[in-house]
Amino acid sequence: MQKDSIQRTILVALGVCLVCSVLVSGAAVSLSSIQKENKRLDKVKNILIAGGLYDPAQDIQTVYDNKVVPLLVELDSGRIVGKDAYPEGMHAATYDLKKMASDPTMGRGIDPGEDIANIRKRPKYIFIYEVIENDKLEKIILPIYGYGLWSTLYGFVSLGNDFQTIQGITYYEHAETPGLGGEVDNPRWKGLWAGKKAFDGSGNVAISVIKGAVDPNHAQAKHQVDGLSGATITTRGVHNMLQYWLSDKGYGRLIETLKEGGTRG
Ligand SMILES: Cc1cc2nc3c(=O)[nH]c(=O)nc-3n(C[C@H](O)[C@H](O)[C@H](O)COP(=O)(O)O)c2cc1C
Repeated sequence: MQKDSIQRTILVALGVCLVCSVLVSGAAVSLSSIQKENKRLDKVKNILIAGGLYDPAQDIQTVYDNKVVPLLVELDSGRIVGKDAYPEGMHAATYDLKKMASDPTMGRGIDPGEDIANIRKRPKYIFIYEVIENDKLEKIILPIYGYGLWSTLYGFVSLGNDFQTIQGITYYEHAETPGLGGEVDNPRWKGLWAGKKAFDGSGNVAISVIKGAVDPNHAQAKHQVDGLSGATITTRGVHNMLQYWLSDKGYGRLIETLKEGGTRG
């Protein structure tokens, strides 16, 4: 075969493609366990952020192991499931919310009339997290998700042991526009949530993400959080998912169980 023949050029190109594809797929396979572990640690980090426990100087896993207790909850009833009654294969460390919601036996559809968070389906069982300090329940951390403008936002909201005062909120996955809806990740905005009251005197969900800035003299100011400027649709998505998940359709029954000193798993 001649050095500059078409066949030789094609053969060399094919050879390069083959070597590269073997290298790329080899790297993908060998890195996948590291990626999975990093994803798990990122979720743990976000649980700590929502619970106000994140300290970059401390080992994430150690803080989690010392202070956070996962509890499995049957969402429809608000029942806390004892460890001996976990459905087969259920484990807090490997629990995948998206997979569970989409699984035909472990998830269920949401009636469109009730689906204000625009999520269509949800898991039957979900892990929530208790923050225990000196043997005392200090906070609960609840997974939340709902649709914004471009994407479903996945995160956590934390309530104090009065089951009323918000301690923090954080999102670990979304595809909103950086600088607009992506400002849900801005620490300044996230800082506006701590101390806000989730429910009114009658126990109805009252937390509200408003368009614009909160007037501190407004009668409802303790329930209100500033909206994101230039991102009304993401703001509405955040508002709607809080309204959904904190209502009786979401964690309302669980919160009642916990207020009554509900059994731990
Ligand atoms: C490229 C582009 C990206 C945008 N990204 C977002 C977004 O992530 N979230 C959002 O609510 N609005 C986003 N918007 C703006 C919306 O289309 C809409 O105008 C806005 O939500 C209205 O908010 P405002 O009433 O505060 O201006 C984006 C607009 C453009 C052109």
